[in-house]
Amino acid sequence: MIILAIESSCDETSAAICVNGKIQSNVVATQLVHEQYGGVVPELASRAHQQRIVPVVEQALADAKIQKNALSAVAFTRGPGLLGALLVGASFAKALALALDIPLIEVNHMQAHVLAHFIEAPEPKFPFLCLTVSGGHTQIVLVRDHLSMEIIGQTGDDAVGEAFDKTAKLLNLPYPGGPLIDRYAQQGNPLAFKFPLVEMPGLDYSFSGIKTAILYFLRDQTKLNPAFIDENLADICASIQYTLVQILLTKLRRAARETGIREIALAGGVSANSGLRKALTEMGEKQGWNVYIPRFEYCTDNAAMIAMAAHFKYLKGDFTSQEVSPLPRMEF
Ligand code: KG4
Ligand code: ZN
Repeated sequence: MIILAIESSCDETSAAICVNGKIQSNVVATQLVHEQYGGVVPELASRAHQQRIVPVVEQALADAKIQKNALSAVAFTRGPGLLGALLVGASFAKALALALDIPLIEVNHMQAHVLAHFIEAPEPKFPFLCLTVSGGHTQIVLVRDHLSMEIIGQTGDDAVGEAFDKTAKLLNLPYPGGPLIDRYAQQGNPLAFKFPLVEMPGLDYSFSGIKTAILYFLRDQTKLNPAFIDENLADICASIQYTLVQILLTKLRRAARETGIREIALAGGVSANSGLRKALTEMGEKQGWNVYIPRFEYCTDNAAMIAMAAHFKYLKGDFTSQEVSPLPRMEF
């Protein structure tokens, strides 16, 4: 069973080859064109996907030493994501599947982030909770089986990655600012500044209030001292990161308590954050959880996770018709 998977939901053009459930190649082309605009520009993202999709797929095939006509199926991200970006991957996958006369498999990008845990050992045991944190989503997912998942908590406004990136912008850091906040935070005092924690009911999140609080805080402080940001950058970053991590983990702990589940997984681009990794590992030790964090390359957007999801769908014979179109707001 040889699957070619394509990911094009946002600003990464990626292709991967999976042979009998094992990833043989995973090529990711990151689009740097968005940096100067301080965020992903949808039209530029689709154009860049169009330019890259053929060379990225060829590279994935070459890395795995696989010929096109050996493929058993073609998988692609149907959603959620940017419509124009998704269309490039979907059209390519449909055309290739049609030309080779092999099955087409649609994949939900958020389910794939969870299934990145099955690329390499150790794998979490069912049922487990997965905190999926990215630039577009913040979800606590109850995972009963590879293809049976339920979102039990999510953000009502900004995603946590967005909160990192938007506050980084307020600090005049380039896009994407999440990794830079992480870097400066390592030299700072997380308790230097206090930001209000917004209480949301149940297991849901809100990150827009904290962003506004930081905006006003910086505005007031720079009025008093125009060099405030430069002089306190490490402490500000450490305090912001500490607050965001606290918000994430408070709800995760509640979810674990309410469900009685001790298998806890982390997924999505923000799981690269060193403060989050450290705090989750410490909380896991304290709570008696088994904590799972995939390798970084499988946390950010990649086609290997799409291939993994497709592998489980292939085993169930869950194929997609050529009539399929992308779903920017695709749900589970
Ligand atoms: O999953 P991902 O690669 O793409 C989406 O599907 O959104 O996540 C990207 C997000 C961005 O918001 C980026 O700033 C954030 O992950 N991110 C980080 C770190 N590395 C990436 N945020 C905080 N600390 C990091 N080290
Ligand atoms: Zn993602």
